[in-house]
Amino acid sequence: MEIVSVKKLSKTFTSGSDTVRALNSVDFSIKKGEVFGLLGPNGAGKTTLISIMCGFLTPDSGKAEMFGLDCTRESGKIRKRMNLASGFSGISDYFTAEELLYFFCMLYGLDNPKERVEKSLKLTGLEKYRKRRAADFSSGLGRRFLISKALINDPEVLLLDEPTVGLDVDSAAALRSMISELKNKGKTILLTTHNMKEAGELCDRIALIRNGSIIVCGTFSDLRKKFFPYEVLKIQSPDAEKLEKLLSKSVVRIKKTANSLKIYLKHPKDAAPLIKKIAASGIEIRSIYPVEPELEDLYTRVMRS
Ligand SMILES: Nc1ncnc2c1ncn2[C@@H]1O[C@H](COP(=O)(O)OP(=O)(O)OP(=O)(O)O)[C@@H](O)[C@H]1O
Ligand SMILES: [Mg+2]
Repeated sequence: MEIVSVKKLSKTFTSGSDTVRALNSVDFSIKKGEVFGLLGPNGAGKTTLISIMCGFLTPDSGKAEMFGLDCTRESGKIRKRMNLASGFSGISDYFTAEELLYFFCMLYGLDNPKERVEKSLKLTGLEKYRKRRAADFSSGLGRRFLISKALINDPEVLLLDEPTVGLDVDSAAALRSMISELKNKGKTILLTTHNMKEAGELCDRIALIRNGSIIVCGTFSDLRKKFFPYEVLKIQSPDAEKLEKLLSKSVVRIKKTANSLKIYLKHPKDAAPLIKKIAASGIEIRSIYPVEPELEDLYTRVMRS
C-alpha cells in the first residue's frame, strides 16, 4: 500500500536576482513499512521536498500526498500521523529533555503524556539524560532527542532530514540501528542523506536527486544491475603496482590502494583466465576475493552520467 505519493512536484525560489529551481517535476512513492532514502548533494532539493511534505512550503505545481491526504491543504490531519526530525535549532534553553517532550505532547493534544514520554525516551536511549537541558546535549544526544521528539505522537510516517550528519562513527552507528528498529516496528521512513553507506545499510529503495530532479530510483540491486553491471575482485599484494601493469589491459577498471587492487570485470567468467594470468606472472598475491561494489561507486557513476 502506498503511504506517500509525490507527483510532478515543482518548486522555484527567487533569491536576489537568481531563480532557483529547487524541485523539478519530482515523482516517487513510498510503500507502507518501507525505508526510502533520498540521496543527493548539497542544494539538490531534499529539504525543500520534506518541507512541502510537512506543509511548511507550498509547491508551484504538482502534489504530494500522505495517507491519501494532500500535504498542502490537509497538513493538519497529516501531522497527527507523521513527524519530522530535522536540524537542531529552536530548542528552548531552559527546559530539560523530559519537560520538552511533555510540552510537545501538549502541543499535539496527546493523551497519556507520561506513557508517551517514557516510551520515546526509552526508544532513543535517553532515559538517563531526561533531567538534562536538551539545549546542552552533545550533537549525538541532540540528534537522538530530535528523534524522541519525532516519536512522541507514535507516527506512522517519519521524515528524517540527515539524521546522522555531524555525528561521530559510534553515534552514527547507534542512530542507524535505532532507525532499523523503528523500521522493524513497522514505521514508514523517508530519510535524506549524503552518506552512501547509510543509505545502503538502511534503505529498501533509494532515489538519487540532483538539481531538483530525481535521476534514478530503485533498490540497490536494481540500480547496481542498471548502472554498475560489473563483478569486482579485491586482490591484496605487496606488488600492487606490478599487478596493475599486468592487468590494466584485461579489465574494465582498476582502483589501486597501497597494498591492494580493486578490479572491475564485465562478467564473473572473466575471473578464471585473469587468475591464471596472475599465477603465471609469479607476482606475490596475499588474497583474492569478490567484493560488492559500494553504493558510492554507483552514486559517482550515476551522478556523472
Ligand atoms: N527559502 C529559500 N529561498 C531561496 N532559495 C532556497 C530556499 N530554500 C532552498 N533554496 C534553494 O533551493 C535549492 C534546494 O535547497 P535544499 O535546501 O532543498 O537542498 P538540500 O538538498 O536539502 O541541500 P543540503 O544537502 O545542503 O541540505 C538550493 O539551491 C537552495 O539554495
Ligand atoms: Mg537539506
